[in-house]
Amino acid sequence: MSDHIIRVKNPCEPIPVDISRPLEVEVGCGKGKFLTARAAANPDCDFLGIERMLERVRLFDGKCRRGGIDNAKVLRLEALYTFHYLLPAHHIRTVYVFFPDPWPKKKHHSHRLFGTLFLNALWKRLEIGGKLEFATDHKEYFETVCECFAGDKRFERVEPMARPREVWTEFETMFREQGLPIYSAAWKSLDGDDSPLEPLTIPPEAEPREGIVRRV
Ligand SMILES: C[S@@+](CC[C@H](N)C(=O)[O-])C[C@H]1O[C@@H](n2cnc3c(N)ncnc32)[C@H](O)[C@@H]1O
Repeated sequence: MSDHIIRVKNPCEPIPVDISRPLEVEVGCGKGKFLTARAAANPDCDFLGIERMLERVRLFDGKCRRGGIDNAKVLRLEALYTFHYLLPAHHIRTVYVFFPDPWPKKKHHSHRLFGTLFLNALWKRLEIGGKLEFATDHKEYFETVCECFAGDKRFERVEPMARPREVWTEFETMFREQGLPIYSAAWKSLDGDDSPLEPLTIPPEAEPREGIVRRV
């Protein structure tokens, strides 16, 4: 059995994190191309991928095992829920969200990750001065996410990281090979009002289900 997949026995219990080490988290890490490359190059930091598709979680795990990477783990759970309830407060150094599902139809916009709930949970989990790195091929979603951060005084826009070819994600590689434009931005978290997060009302399709927890 692999030791790169975090097995959630109780979805109300925070996931184990070594707070003596820095932590970087990728939301929707897919098969793990970006995060495993970053983990291999940065042994003094821990890396956590959050991905809800089982097959991709398994491929992430395989990359870690083949590459002898022992500082990366993957969690098969929904990202907003994980940020809201399961991660330590003000500990994460960088959160990466690359090519999240853009849900282009207006009637599906409520499925998008970025919104007030995610920004609240993100701010709570980032260390002060920690960063969110974002990239997408979808111009309208990019502009919406930029507006969302611009309206939140707890974040300041900063230069996005350089992403050389070796760390492109699977989707970035595909989009760049098609010659599509890529939009990137980053924000830094600032000091702010650290009041507790309100309990989350999770839509049924986003609830962590027994099957998800057991089948890994
Ligand atoms: C378009 S793919 C991009 C994958 C990867 N970031 C890349 O750039 O190659 C979006 C990924 O995010 C995952 N995902 C979408 N919403 C999620 C959520 N709320 N929680 C966890 N994973 C999610 C999907 O399963 C999918 O693997």
